[in-house]
Amino acid sequence: MHLPVLVIASMLAATTIALDNGLMKTPPMGWLAWERFRCDIDCDNDPKNCISEKLFMDMADRLSEDGWRELGYVYVNIDDCWASKTRDEKGRLQADPKRFPGGIKKLARYVHDRGLKLGIYGDMGTYTCMGYPGTPLDKIKIDAQTFADWDVDMLKYDGCYSNETEQEKGYPLMSKALNATGRPIAYSCSWPAYQGGLPPKVNYTELGMICNLWRNYGDIQDSWDSVQSIIDWVFNNQDVLVPAAAPGMWNDPDMLIVGDFGLSMDQSRAQMALWAIMAAPLFVSNDLRTISSGAQNILQNKLAISINQDPLGIQGRRIVKEKSRIEVYLRPLSNNASALVFFSRRTDMPYRYKTSLGKLNFTTGIYKITDVFTYKTEVLKDSTDFVVSINPTGVVMWYLSAPAKLNPRLLFNHDKHQRPVHRDDEKNAIPLVFL
Ligand SMILES: *[C@@H]1O[C@H](CO)[C@@H](O)[C@H](O)[C@H]1NC(C)=O
Ligand SMILES: *[C@@H]1O[C@H](CO)[C@@H](O)[C@H](O)[C@H]1NC(C)=O
Ligand SMILES: *[C@@H]1O[C@H](CO)[C@@H](O)[C@H](O)[C@H]1NC(C)=O
Ligand SMILES: *[C@@H]1O[C@H](CO)[C@@H](O)[C@H](O)[C@H]1NC(C)=O
Ligand SMILES: *[C@@H]1O[C@H](CO)[C@@H](O)[C@H](O)[C@H]1NC(C)=O
Repeated sequence: MHLPVLVIASMLAATTIALDNGLMKTPPMGWLAWERFRCDIDCDNDPKNCISEKLFMDMADRLSEDGWRELGYVYVNIDDCWASKTRDEKGRLQADPKRFPGGIKKLARYVHDRGLKLGIYGDMGTYTCMGYPGTPLDKIKIDAQTFADWDVDMLKYDGCYSNETEQEKGYPLMSKALNATGRPIAYSCSWPAYQGGLPPKVNYTELGMICNLWRNYGDIQDSWDSVQSIIDWVFNNQDVLVPAAAPGMWNDPDMLIVGDFGLSMDQSRAQMALWAIMAAPLFVSNDLRTISSGAQNILQNKLAISINQDPLGIQGRRIVKEKSRIEVYLRPLSNNASALVFFSRRTDMPYRYKTSLGKLNFTTGIYKITDVFTYKTEVLKDSTDFVVSINPTGVVMWYLSAPAKLNPRLLFNHDKHQRPVHRDDEKNAIPLVFL
C-alpha cells in the first residue's frame, strides 16, 4: 500500500480554481478578537479589555515584539462590535468614535508600520450578530470601498440577520465588490456555517472560487468539549471537506483557544496539532499580553507551524479510529514528507499504542521521524512495530521525512543523535525514546 500523496495532489490541481486575488496560498495566521474579548464595550470600567483601538494596538505590539510576526502570525483581526450604531452622513460605516477615536484607517497604519495586516468584520444581514449595522445587499459596494479606503487587508463576512436567498446573492457579490476596489483583501465567508456546512446546500466548488476561507461549523468556545465537537464534525465529514481545501481556499474550523482558560497543556498541543493537520487558518484568540510561556511555546512551535503551512495545501485526514479511543491522523506534505498525529480521547492514563508505519500504509522504506513537541528524532523502518505513549486528551505528533530505500548505511547511521535501528528490531516492538 502506498501513500496517495501524488494522486491527491494531481486531483486537486485538476479540479480546483481558487479565488484569484493572489492571497493566502498557505493558511492565514494571526490574532482574532472574538473568542477571548467578545463584545466587551465597557471601556469606562474595563479599559484594558474592551473592544477599542487600544486593544488592537496592544496586540499588534505583542505580535511584532514577542516573536509572533516572524513565524507568520501577521493578521490583527477585529471582530464584531467595532462600529458605531449609525452610518455617517454619506451612508458609510464608521468606527465607534469613543472606542476608536483615531478611526480604522489610522489603526491600519499602526498595524502596517509593524509589518502586520489588519482584518475587519462585517455581516451580510441587516445587523451584525451583536446588533451593529450590517452590510446587506444594497450596502455591499459602498462598504467594500470603505474597507479598501481604510487600507484593510481582510474581511470576515458573517451571516446573522440574513436569509438563504440573500446569502446566495450577497457572498458572491461581496467577493466581486472587494475585487473591484483594486485592493487585495482576503475574504472569509461565514456562509456555509449558516447552511449546515454540507452539500447539497453548500457548494464548495463555488466557495473556493469566491472566498479565501470559510467557516463551516459553529463558533468555538473556551472548552475542550467545544474543541472535540469541531474535530468530530470536521473529520466525520472529511470526504467532503478535504477536497474543498487548497492553496488560497481553506476550511476554517475557527480560532485557536490555546492560552485561554479552557484547555490543559495536553489539550492545547492537541488543538495545535490537529489544526496543523487540517491546514486550518491559525487565528489565536487570547490575551497576548499575559499568555503563559507554555501556551506561547505551543503556538510558536516551528515544526507544527511548518506542517500547517505546507505549500501543497492538502488537508489531512483521520486514518484510524480504534475501539481503545486512540485515533491516528495523517497529512501528506511536500517533498514526500508527511505528518502523523496520534490522538487519545481517553481520560484515564497515558496509553501505550502499538502499531507500525506499514500498518498505517506507509510505503516500504525507512523514515526519519521528528517528534514535533520534543524535537527528538528517530529512524524507523516501515515494518518495525513501535509504541507511542499518548497522554489522556493529548497527542503525539510526528514529522516524517520521505521514505529512503532500505540501505544498511542509513540503518546504522553515524549521527550520534539517532539511535541505530537494528534489523532484529523487526521482531520486537521498540518503545521510542520520546515517550
Ligand atoms: C480581481 O480579479 C481578477 C480576475 O480574477 C484578478 O486578476 C485580479 O488580480 C483581482 N484583483 C484583486 C484586487 O483582487
Ligand atoms: C429573504 O429576505 C428578502 C428581503 O430581503 C425577502 O424578500 C425574501 O422573501 C426572503 N426570502 C426568504 C426565503 O425568506
Ligand atoms: C457549484 O458551483 C459551481 C461553480 O459555480 C457550478 O459550476 C456547479 O454547477 C455547482 N454545483 C452544483 C451542484 O450546484
Ligand atoms: C516522491 O516519491 C515519488 C515516488 O513515490 C518519486 O517519484 C518522487 O520523485 C518523489 N519526490 C520527491 C520530491 O522526493
Ligand atoms: C490500509 O489499506 C487497506 C487496504 O486498502 C485499508 O483497508 C486500510 O483501512 C488502510 N489503513 C489505513 C490506516 O489507512
